[in-house]
Amino acid sequence: MAYEKRTGTMSAYFVEQLVKRNEPVMQFFLLPFMAPVSYICDGREASDVMTHRIKEFDRSRLFGDLFVAYMPHSSITFPTDNDWKYNRSLISETMLPRFLEASGAKQAYGAFKELVSLWQEKARLADDRAIDVAGDTRMAAMDAIWAMTFGSSIDTCKTAAAYFSKTPGLEPPTESSTPQLANLPSYPHPPIFESLMTLLHSSRIAMSVGHRAHWLAMSVLPSLRKAKKIRDKLVRERLSQTYARFASKTNGSKVAEKGVASAIDIAVQREITVAAKEGRLALNAKATEGIHNELCLFLAAGSAITADTISWGLKRLTAHQDVQAVLRAETIEKFQSFDMNGVPPIAEAIATTDLPQLDAFIEEVLRCHPLGNSNNAGPSLLSIPFPISDQNRSPTSLKSTSSKWDHHSDLETFRPDRWLIQDSSGSKHVKFDPSAYPMQTFGEGPRSCFGKKFAYLEMRIALTLILWNFELLPIPEELVDFDIVEELTRNARHVRLRLKRIS
Ligand code: HEM
Repeated sequence: MAYEKRTGTMSAYFVEQLVKRNEPVMQFFLLPFMAPVSYICDGREASDVMTHRIKEFDRSRLFGDLFVAYMPHSSITFPTDNDWKYNRSLISETMLPRFLEASGAKQAYGAFKELVSLWQEKARLADDRAIDVAGDTRMAAMDAIWAMTFGSSIDTCKTAAAYFSKTPGLEPPTESSTPQLANLPSYPHPPIFESLMTLLHSSRIAMSVGHRAHWLAMSVLPSLRKAKKIRDKLVRERLSQTYARFASKTNGSKVAEKGVASAIDIAVQREITVAAKEGRLALNAKATEGIHNELCLFLAAGSAITADTISWGLKRLTAHQDVQAVLRAETIEKFQSFDMNGVPPIAEAIATTDLPQLDAFIEEVLRCHPLGNSNNAGPSLLSIPFPISDQNRSPTSLKSTSSKWDHHSDLETFRPDRWLIQDSSGSKHVKFDPSAYPMQTFGEGPRSCFGKKFAYLEMRIALTLILWNFELLPIPEELVDFDIVEELTRNARHVRLRLKRIS
């Protein structure tokens, strides 16, 4: 705990201990009355455990335990069994390209367009000073995942933008404030946003004192009870509205294909089809519970972690002005049919255009900033691996032929171009190669991140819209830091930007 206080991260402590002992595996007791936990600090062996040895190890219960108190029947809390398969099947179509390109992209686009409007207002008020935007990316990512889940908006960024549009100007800096940092007033959030963030932050209780204490807190703390009540009421209402909409269109076992615009549509439509096949009433208690929890899981797993990755990306764009210039040049070249002074590229274009420089940048941000607390952020992913002889490797790991585990000596450096290879069609063109280097930020195997495709799409859309609308100017030296705060994710302590509107 003392170490966590000093560095902001517990996982860095595990890595430091392993490096000191020159050993890639450590076993320890994390909490009283719990089985010991193994920490594997070798990407290749961890990959083998997650992909080929899932029956032997399965997903660690520690991960699901973070969420079990406020969405107990969601797939993240299950071992890899039939319940997990059933819940997964309800939402599996949300990651198909036809849904992501037709609906997911538009919903994410709508959310990040509102973020741009909010920042236009904030940039006006900041008047060349930096602003801290960590909370803003979380608002936009929550707006995006809510829209993708329910096909409607909770307008978190829009509400904030409307608030700032009525703010005439800022007080001059006081003696105690940092003059280069604009001190913007705090602003109102919609109650549902507050509730979802309150629940998410409550996972910290499970992290520090275990999931039983988290259960208890959920039933006795008024703030947590209220947050859960608000969330559950809205989800329940949307579930019955969606069911009514589809049930009225159902003709025997044939469910209408049209009008599927969100994850809830997909889940309800699937449940109606399965129930008809099984000759039972749709949305019985078990199915309702499953869908309800799975939708809540989307909101929890699909918000803060994507937002925090985008935040790290923005910090990198500010610190690496040369990289920012390359990405902006690519955006201008690839979307030249859109008017630089007016219309930004549309959602579908951003989702489908070949953008190797942007994809390489996103991959490098993900590699350098693995946000999950179970991710190895040390040797073999971010620095040279421990020397491990073949006789100490598992038989399945020995069969791995992936060249990404070859020796790489420059893993500590932030270098997006490591993911680019020459295109065979001509020396000027480059291609993005996602298998060039080791990366496990989304985990691997059957229990890897379910929402990874939507996350990539969101990051593409968010960064394109930001690069299109703003220059991220360098910030004063005293405002620069890459400090980590380990909450549910390993997020950046500050996300300070100096935004210059491109008009
Ligand atoms: C940059 C953004 C994201 C990162 C870095 C990330 C990372 C992760 C990681 C590390 C895991 C655990 C993998 C394991 O244990 O092996 C996970 C699980 C999961 N993620 Fe993500 N995630 C992101 C965005 C999303 C989004 C947008 C969604 C929803 C649309 C999502 C839904 C899920 C779900 C449902 C699981 C649980 C999978 C299971 O238990 O089978 N994630 N994610």
